[in-house]
Amino acid sequence: MLTVDFAPVALPATHALALLVPEGASPYGLWKEADEATGGAVTRAFAAADFSGKDGQTVTLLSPGAGLTRIIAAGLGKPESLSERKLEEAGSALAALLGRDEQAALAADGLTTAQALQAATGLVLRSYRFDLYRTKLKPEEKPKFARLLILTADSEAARAGWPRHQAVISGVFLARDLATEPANVLNPVEMATRIEALRETGLEVEIFGPDQMLDLGFGALMGVAQGSANPPRMVVMKWHGGEGKPVAFIGKGVTFDTGGISIKPAANMEDMKWDMAGAAAVTGVMSALARRKAKVNAIGLVGLVENMPGHNAQRPGDVVKSYSGQTIEVLNTDAEGRLVLADVIWFCQEKYEPRCMIDLATLTGAIIISLGHEHAGLFSNDEDLAAKLLAAGSASGEKLWRMPLGKEYDKMLKSDIADMKNIGGRPGGAITAAQFIARFVNEKPWAHLDIAGTAWASKDIATVPKGATGFGVRLLDRLVADHFEAA
Ligand code: BES
Ligand code: MN
Ligand code: ZN
Repeated sequence: MLTVDFAPVALPATHALALLVPEGASPYGLWKEADEATGGAVTRAFAAADFSGKDGQTVTLLSPGAGLTRIIAAGLGKPESLSERKLEEAGSALAALLGRDEQAALAADGLTTAQALQAATGLVLRSYRFDLYRTKLKPEEKPKFARLLILTADSEAARAGWPRHQAVISGVFLARDLATEPANVLNPVEMATRIEALRETGLEVEIFGPDQMLDLGFGALMGVAQGSANPPRMVVMKWHGGEGKPVAFIGKGVTFDTGGISIKPAANMEDMKWDMAGAAAVTGVMSALARRKAKVNAIGLVGLVENMPGHNAQRPGDVVKSYSGQTIEVLNTDAEGRLVLADVIWFCQEKYEPRCMIDLATLTGAIIISLGHEHAGLFSNDEDLAAKLLAAGSASGEKLWRMPLGKEYDKMLKSDIADMKNIGGRPGGAITAAQFIARFVNEKPWAHLDIAGTAWASKDIATVPKGATGFGVRLLDRLVADHFEAA
């Protein structure tokens, strides 16, 4: 992660200067000083580029004088519509302009401390890279940028406020790293090991292997796992930072989803390495809560399996008995995520009596047909929890859209041989999947987030570079901060 540091407001003598410009403003503070020190170059460049501070606009001045390597500017839009999102987006736009500078100083003299930290967060989030497997990067291809200096009147307050942002960013980066890792590296055992390393943050971590899960009666999860040579794991993370019953997060962690015997087509199957993005988000938010010492009790549970068509794989038509006691006819082995969640969710409520449960899963292609890549699907049995999640979604920029549940959809899961089947047919595929999970929720406030459309980005978008998004970490951190933390 980039180093972020803080200093009093003064024109830097070297490196790059970054400006955030409100729409229609005239030069003030460092902006004005930089303009004067460069003989009016900033004003001329803004005019030449038709830059007036609208959101989305950017300008770069190379070697403008006054010892600066460059001046970069991003528009903040109209002051009256300035929001946390706009600040982050402007910060992320600056990240794309940093070029070959090692350091930049962000002029935050027109911003409050909170606003400066929000812009810095946007810049750092956008600067994420995953270069672990690139062995031939030439020096000029390696990123040079390493340090962002925030110039602000109250640099001590900003410095004190930064670790909280840093905790959340590191949770997002962890979730992105986990989802980006290829499945030959990140199998269930390896993912459990990575989670175990989070003990250093203060999280309690407990790991369950196949023998324990068979003993417990996790027939649904173990049915998925049995086709793979890589043994499954369930990992429980606990954070004790407050009072009372914990809020629970549950993640689908299919480290690779071939579809099993109901095998997927070859095209784009590589995407299924990130079929553990729900588990990655749960891991990321738990690490964020621990690192920022959130005043809350929270637990995170992830079901980690690989869905493979091995000689011992489950067959279409197999009937499995879930930990809840309910039996399931597995008509399609590619509808595996719900089988994993069924056992982990039941275990969560039996064992930990959470105040509410929120599961995250790359569960269905159907949610992508419904909502595209803009919103994750939100399904919930609880109006209050749904409203809080929707609000946290808008505030964090990880947007949700409420989808329906209902008896008629539930009926589509009727089986001829068992208590239910694991597919409901093509119509309303994301809804019947949620309906399936609802059968393993025992009168608890619960929400299910289908993140199949939002876990991976096919292009750079604001704070999210192309690739794994870490979707869910900021959303859930925000939910906890706004609604579950003691003041
Ligand atoms: N992991 C997939 C869903 C998915 C699809 C995630 C695309 C990300 C991108 C899930 O396990 C799956 O295969 N779902 C099936 C369910 C069907 C067999 C009822 C689907 O959506 O096609
Ligand atoms: Mn599948
Ligand atoms: Zn899957």
